[in-house]
Amino acid sequence: MDKLLISGGVPLNGEVRISGAKNAALPLMCAALLTKDPLTLSNAPNLRDISTMLTLLGKMGVAISRAERSVISLDARRLDNPEAPYELVRTMRASILVLGPLVARMGYARVSLPGGCAIGQRPVDLHIKGLQAMGATISVEHGYITVRAERLRGAHLRPGLVTVTGTENLMMAACLAEGITTIENAAREPEVVDLAACLNAMGARIGGAGTGVMTIEGVTALHGATHQIMPDRIETGTFLAAAAATGGEVRLVNTDGALIESVIAKLTQAGAKISCRGTTINLSMSGRPKAVSFETAPFPEFPTDMQAQLMTLDCIADGTGVITETIFENRFMHALELRRLGADIHIAGNAATIRGVAKLSGATVMATDLRASASLVIAGLVADGDTLIDRIYHLDRGYDALESKLGALGARVRRVQ
Ligand code: EPZ
Repeated sequence: MDKLLISGGVPLNGEVRISGAKNAALPLMCAALLTKDPLTLSNAPNLRDISTMLTLLGKMGVAISRAERSVISLDARRLDNPEAPYELVRTMRASILVLGPLVARMGYARVSLPGGCAIGQRPVDLHIKGLQAMGATISVEHGYITVRAERLRGAHLRPGLVTVTGTENLMMAACLAEGITTIENAAREPEVVDLAACLNAMGARIGGAGTGVMTIEGVTALHGATHQIMPDRIETGTFLAAAAATGGEVRLVNTDGALIESVIAKLTQAGAKISCRGTTINLSMSGRPKAVSFETAPFPEFPTDMQAQLMTLDCIADGTGVITETIFENRFMHALELRRLGADIHIAGNAATIRGVAKLSGATVMATDLRASASLVIAGLVADGDTLIDRIYHLDRGYDALESKLGALGARVRRVQ
């Protein structure tokens, strides 16, 4: 089992190129299932989750070619196995994103129920309800969701909660439905907007992406396209938080500050100097950060996927910060590990109160989920002495070459067995 060994105390300095967005790439790869023509995606990140999705799609019959590592072509002309088996789905919940495209294209899909996850129950009831409203018949038994529909019908949908992959599943299904589908209370995340842009390039008729109310006019078929995957806003925020915590000066390229305005506002409040120009973001930070408080919420509010990283910043800040997590019911596990490094964190329900301490001290800690791992990496970068992070396979799911990117910024970090 790989571990990451970090020797703290070095301010990050230099330039880092941000990779394509994991949470855009995954639904975009599933969009290939909607057409017989090839779909080519560029700026693809090199991540464990991308490989898992390629394995899943390959097992269905999708032909995959990679002109280069960051360019993936998917040809779903022949789909002889519209299923997503348990052994793959349990390693990556985003596999649920094949459900909508498969039933729209094939009239049938059988997908393993994603199991629980460290950060919360994460049910998929809203995905199922939406497909049922579009005329699908669905059974859930023996741990599998089986969906059938001659042809889906357009419907007026209003999921009770804002769900990112739920919105993505339903909008992909609606592309080939009979008639018009409206989705109210739709997720407004940039990854949803990126998916809508790609689907429209494939011949879909989607309006209102990013506004909270989407309309999709069903068509009989989609054609191929070439689409550049948007930059990863969470990787961007993670590097900005790491640079702010270590008191460094970094330039992020191949990204876009407009994707994470809420995070930039919080880091500025903490004392960082940040400037955005085109696809570049500059951050410089001197001295100790000031404590910040925030509440996570759907886009454009503060993203839950950046909550853990900013908790680490608060751990060493001047003052007390209060962080409220409103999206997932169990997304404070990193706090238990940060305490081992000397952090002063008190948790009551979905609110964490962090009293900044002058210094963290290195220790052995364990990663529990993808973004918790990132918060422990940032803690290791600022702690006195060495920090050893175990179970970093979580990191490899969502960060492309993290240790080499950090090393290029001066961090003392290496992977050990
Ligand atoms: C997406 O997950 C992201 N994953 C998550 O990123 C992200 O944390 C999350 O959105 C919130 O922004 C991908 O895009 C692949 P949700 P998703 O459906 O779609 C409840 C990362 O670190 N809910 O928006 O699964 C759910 O339990 C990952 O990259 C239902 O109750 O999240 C949660 O409380 C972690 N029923 C809330 O809604 C449903 O049918 C939001 O979940 C669906 C969701």
